Amino acid sequence: MRIFAISDVHVDYPENMTRMQTLSGALYSRDTLLLAGDVSDDLARLARVLEGVREKFAHVFFVPGNHELWIRRGEAGDSTAKFRQVLRLCARLAVATGPTKVTSGPDDPGAWVVPLFSWYVKPEQGATSLFVPRDGDDASLSMWADNVRTRWPEGMSVTDHFLDMNEPHLDRHYDAPVISFSHFLPRKELMFGLSAAAAPSRPARAKRFNFSRVAGSTRLEAQIRALGSVLHVFGHQHRNRDRVIDGLRYVSNCLGYPREHARGELGGAHRNPKLVWDTRSAGG
Ligand SMILES: [Fe+2]
Repeated sequence: MRIFAISDVHVDYPENMTRMQTLSGALYSRDTLLLAGDVSDDLARLARVLEGVREKFAHVFFVPGNHELWIRRGEAGDSTAKFRQVLRLCARLAVATGPTKVTSGPDDPGAWVVPLFSWYVKPEQGATSLFVPRDGDDASLSMWADNVRTRWPEGMSVTDHFLDMNEPHLDRHYDAPVISFSHFLPRKELMFGLSAAAAPSRPARAKRFNFSRVAGSTRLEAQIRALGSVLHVFGHQHRNRDRVIDGLRYVSNCLGYPREHARGELGGAHRNPKLVWDTRSAGG
């Protein structure tokens, strides 16, 4: 069983939708896909993508990203209700959102795939934030759309709300390697590239945006370690990584925005699902 991963496919961009719709129907028919969030806030588009990959892969796993939880003008309910809607859609389409063992047959040891729900902790919200201070950044996050497009019950701790849902999965006995995935980041180091190459130039407004304010949470990292994952896939930043830290491999394979490709910002972009694990060789 080969396990592939991709995230942040943002199919509101027509060329990204085309890319997802034209994935090979033959290449992946015995494989598993981890789709790590940010497909679209539009449930009809999300359904179209999930249906498409369900037809092409043997198993599909999904976790919502921040975009899935956006509430557009005129939409009823809050982002927790949208989350439940997304999970119901996944259930209807036989897309897994909970721990599931995948194997290609009786002589294959297989792997457990454990989707982890998550959100980010802003610096003012607590010590589990991944915030890295930077001079002159925009503390008000004026260009961060989640601030206006998500809606939460008064006083709710959003990150704990989602991470608490993962707790029942942490202490279980898993009889095969555990592969976890989330939309958001579990550790600060993953935000930064390893090479000292100069970052592509970005507009001044974008430079004032400090991503670490909305990147993820160290509590997610604690959950990954409690699970004993051998591999963790994440998305959200649109910066592609494949790195081992403290004995655990972390992989990000974001499709991202067309303009980011044009500027060469993603780094190591495959633009297709990336092979991250093969259960028969117990590795990527
Ligand atoms: Fe995201």
